[in-house]
Amino acid sequence: MSQPTNPSTQTPASDTEPAPWWRRGVVYQVYVRSFADGNGDGTGDIAGLRSRIPYLAALGIDAIWINPWYRSPLADGGYDVADYRAIESRYGTIEEAEALLAEAKQAGIRVIVDLVPNHTSEEHAWFVEALAAEPGSAARARYHIRPGKGPGGAEPPTDWTSVFGGPAWSRLPDGEWYLHLFDSSQPDLNWDNPEVQAEFLDIFTFWLDRGADGFRIDVAHGMVKDMAFPDLGASTDALLGGATIDDHPFWDRDGLHEIVRGWRSLLDRYDDRMMVAEAWVASAERLARYLRPDEYHQSFNFDFLGTDWDAAEFRRIVTEAVAEAANVGSTPTWVLSNHDVVRHPTRYGLPNGTDWRTWLLDGPHDILEADLGARRGRAANLMMLALPGSSYLYMGDELGLPEVWDLPLDVLDDPVWERSGHKAKGRDGCRVPLPWQREGSSLGFGDGDAWLPQPAEWSGLSVEAQTGDPDSTLELHRRALSVRRTELVDNETIEWVDAPATVLAFERPTGSDGTNGSIQCWVNMGDEPIELPAFTELLVASDPDQDDDTLAPNAAVWLR
Ligand code: GLC
Repeated sequence: MSQPTNPSTQTPASDTEPAPWWRRGVVYQVYVRSFADGNGDGTGDIAGLRSRIPYLAALGIDAIWINPWYRSPLADGGYDVADYRAIESRYGTIEEAEALLAEAKQAGIRVIVDLVPNHTSEEHAWFVEALAAEPGSAARARYHIRPGKGPGGAEPPTDWTSVFGGPAWSRLPDGEWYLHLFDSSQPDLNWDNPEVQAEFLDIFTFWLDRGADGFRIDVAHGMVKDMAFPDLGASTDALLGGATIDDHPFWDRDGLHEIVRGWRSLLDRYDDRMMVAEAWVASAERLARYLRPDEYHQSFNFDFLGTDWDAAEFRRIVTEAVAEAANVGSTPTWVLSNHDVVRHPTRYGLPNGTDWRTWLLDGPHDILEADLGARRGRAANLMMLALPGSSYLYMGDELGLPEVWDLPLDVLDDPVWERSGHKAKGRDGCRVPLPWQREGSSLGFGDGDAWLPQPAEWSGLSVEAQTGDPDSTLELHRRALSVRRTELVDNETIEWVDAPATVLAFERPTGSDGTNGSIQCWVNMGDEPIELPAFTELLVASDPDQDDDTLAPNAAVWLR
């Protein structure tokens, strides 16, 4: 495979050459279905997103990542793609997508689109063709479609289970089986097949030519399968499931890096484009492999997301991530919430050690301390935004939205709910449409009811309610993003500052050569207030009652 033509894009900031945008950028994730509804049908859409570009520009983010917006039956919120070159009609048209790309660019916002290479929808033309074709045909070879085991091939080819629950194989009417690591409506593509490889290069080109600045690559750790199809002897009940098994038959296989290098050399023929991997892997060292100079530009650090409210753990994970990324010439990519996990203000309101995925359904729900979680959520965002590298905010993080853990069961839409046999509630609680206004049937999300109901108290968390209130979470983010942009992006170094064990304190130089002074971030994860060091300016504080002397538990500050 060819080498990148422009490997210099992996180089860090220096006096002469500013770091590429993605290396220090703040990316705002737009779950388009739930962001803003422009036509009043209850589903978010591109028209709604376009109308909110001024909001995003004023927030001070560098880019947006749009979850899949392609034609899809939306069996898995659009991660079941029927046509990678068409827009889902509930979201809009390709012309609207092109207009959005242009308008975002004009507002100074880059756009990252979401590509799903591991699987298609069962409604994709290729799968429809495969179903109509004979066993052993070229049309079937684009997927993993195989005879079963046992008498009459009645048993699935392997014991693999789906991430969403149940077996990872479903049977076709003619007796063959097809592999789906996720929902049965999401057949896995066969990445050993040259036609599949070529098709995706073409899809990349399609979106690069339309001005996409980057790609978020879905299930980047899952594309390559062990073609000997061994049994696994273990289940795959979470995205992380089995990632620690050596030579796992479908997670994090070495062979996938070759494919990524091919994509990278295509991207490098364009200016300034990037890709970020969604790779749930076993260690910081495994993650860094995705970040080698001729592979991904970024890979989400899910260890950071999975960490309990514990200063020592955060210190360990940040230290490790910074070092492993530096080893391959890259920087870490931080994230605390996304469309797949319980929102972090709710996670941090649960006792450390709680399995929040099962807690959603099983509880006990009275252990949730929502106010505590909200305070910690604000502090955590200040911590994240002060770290070197890139940060991803999930829409609504800037409003301090909690998980809607008590959605009625009859509105659940995530395939996890059905596939788990109603044992796991799924991810709808973090996908509830955004509240824009205090009033209105969907709090300004659209003109009608939203596709998932919003809690009445979200009126007070709406953009309208928070705008102009200096104590609000929204204004806190606007302030932090503006300080970050002017002071924290020129230098990629971080130094730990001596602090009590339950406190996370680090220093970031504010100029590229370290002569412009520095900013310290202090986060108190303990139970007692602590004394702050001397400083010249209190730049940002997560606690509206912050004074100059002490830092309360569950609060964070940025000090000059
Ligand atoms: C990724 C997506 C998730 C989706 C899954 C299958 O993990 O983030 O939402 O369900 O892939 O595509």
